[in-house]
Amino acid sequence: MYKVVVLVSGGGTNLQAIIDKVESGYIPNTRIAAVISSSRKAFALERAAKHNIPAEAVVRKDYASKEEFDEALLSALDGYAPDLIVLAGYLVIVPAIVIKKYANKIINIHPSLIPSFCGDGFYGLKVHEAVLARGCKVTGATVHFVDEGTDTGPIIKQKAVEVLPGDTPEVLQRRVMEEAEWIILPDAIKELAESRG
Ligand code: GRF
Repeated sequence: MYKVVVLVSGGGTNLQAIIDKVESGYIPNTRIAAVISSSRKAFALERAAKHNIPAEAVVRKDYASKEEFDEALLSALDGYAPDLIVLAGYLVIVPAIVIKKYANKIINIHPSLIPSFCGDGFYGLKVHEAVLARGCKVTGATVHFVDEGTDTGPIIKQKAVEVLPGDTPEVLQRRVMEEAEWIILPDAIKELAESRG
């Protein structure tokens, strides 16, 4: 079985898309070994519980130092021995010790067509606000490997989404999720699971 651990911070709609496609068999020979959240309040944790997926919160403010948090996150991950770590709306910078140990085994979904509207400060609604402010006619989402930079790792998949007249950041965010993110993130996991052979 291809073991996947999903890191989350919020609502978990991308997590739900992965759960649904693993349970339907669309993503073969794959098990979601765990969900790890940066917040105890994340609705994503309820989605995991509803599908009997082990879940826990590793919260930065519970630790006296960043080093202690980094070690705690690494040890939590090691406990599940993942073949793949998926960042699905995870809002914490992934510690260097995790990136080093799981090199080329961590992927992220970003709600724009990288290299546009990515990097420090570009997350969540801020991305869609910037897309609208620039007057773009097309946007989309990107799945990429995670390296030590912010949104700088090799791109795995992208999907374009039209920006429509009258779009608000919230409406655009929802369309990018529905028409791009919930499709390309499970597809990327499927291809990585299948390429493992
Ligand atoms: C998504 O738009 C994702 O691209 C971004 O954060 C949002 C998380 O949404 N990184 P959800 O928690 O998966 O619903």
